[in-house]
Amino acid sequence: MDPKPTPAFPSARILGIETSCDETAAAVIEDGRGLLSNTVASQIDLHAKYGGVFPEVASRQHIRTIYAIVDQALQQAHMTLSDMDAIAVTRGPGLAGSLVIGMNTAKGLALAGNKPLIGVNHLEGHIYSSWVYPNDVPKAPPAPQFPLMALLVSGGHTELNLITDHLTYKRLGATLDDAAGEAFDKVARLLGLTYPGGPSIQKAAAEGNPQAFVLPRARLEGTWDFSFSGLKTAVLRLVRQFEEKSLPLPVADMAASFQAAVVDVLVTKTIKAAETYKVKEILVAGGVSANKSLRETFLAQKQFPVHIPPLYLCTDNAAMIAAAGYFRFVKGQRDALDLDVLPTWPLS
Ligand code: KG4
Ligand code: ZN
Repeated sequence: MDPKPTPAFPSARILGIETSCDETAAAVIEDGRGLLSNTVASQIDLHAKYGGVFPEVASRQHIRTIYAIVDQALQQAHMTLSDMDAIAVTRGPGLAGSLVIGMNTAKGLALAGNKPLIGVNHLEGHIYSSWVYPNDVPKAPPAPQFPLMALLVSGGHTELNLITDHLTYKRLGATLDDAAGEAFDKVARLLGLTYPGGPSIQKAAAEGNPQAFVLPRARLEGTWDFSFSGLKTAVLRLVRQFEEKSLPLPVADMAASFQAAVVDVLVTKTIKAAETYKVKEILVAGGVSANKSLRETFLAQKQFPVHIPPLYLCTDNAAMIAAAGYFRFVKGQRDALDLDVLPTWPLS
């Protein structure tokens, strides 16, 4: 087999820029899949003391780092702005003050380099992280096959989308209250664990018994929606019970039981949706897809092939924005330089 098959679409290199929340990121992607560089400056340490993202601190930090990050991405790709075919940037959803920094940077580069500007939906970016692979591997891994059932699980979103073709989504259901990542973050706070909650809960859960506590699982049968607020409240009640009795919190067992409940609902519902819509494959994306238990549970079932990005592409990055940007570029999308950010912007 030809190690570098001719792409089905025109060849193009895209510079991606992502600043929707608390990561300042830039990356260069070739032909929608080949990762030439990927730079991310995380602000986790800056926000940890607030127990969550502090929007004004985030936008100020993006201003400080964005140009160095873009420079680094181009340098690591051994390229300059003139080698790019377009600039793709996250337009939303996200924090307005953070999005604007990436957007204005992208506009400046597009104007200076006379390159097309392409606004990308952040959730679409997460989906396209499954197309990305390091450009120096000898053989491209197979791209996801349509139709796909996509579970998007991040700090701000939890939804099931049927994807019938490139850039073609039908949202089947979503969370009615907290996003899965938000639930991880809030429960971590209840258990006295550090921000961000997902990795902290995962670490604590590794030492705990997932069957220690029976926690509610909102199945919401007959819909493709999710709900995590009841689960969060159940953990809160348990915490209070231990506090009232002045007993130490069994953090590991509570983290493991909470994680098991979230994973159970997410995996069961996604597989049921995949069966119902007779898709070829499942795709899992967003920050929570970094969760070890979620990954292992999806990969353990043999009904559907599952695409889950490597860990470095699960949380926010610009490679995914450049990849999605490529498919928008070949479809002909060209945005004007007065493009505004969209802090609230559904995928479909
Ligand atoms: O996609 P992302 O980086 O940002 C948003 O677009 O929201 O997702 C961040 C979310 C946070 O809520 C974080 O706690 C969660 O992803 N997360 C995890 C893990 N790593 C990050 N949740 C569970 N387990 C993890 N290992
Ligand atoms: Zn994200």
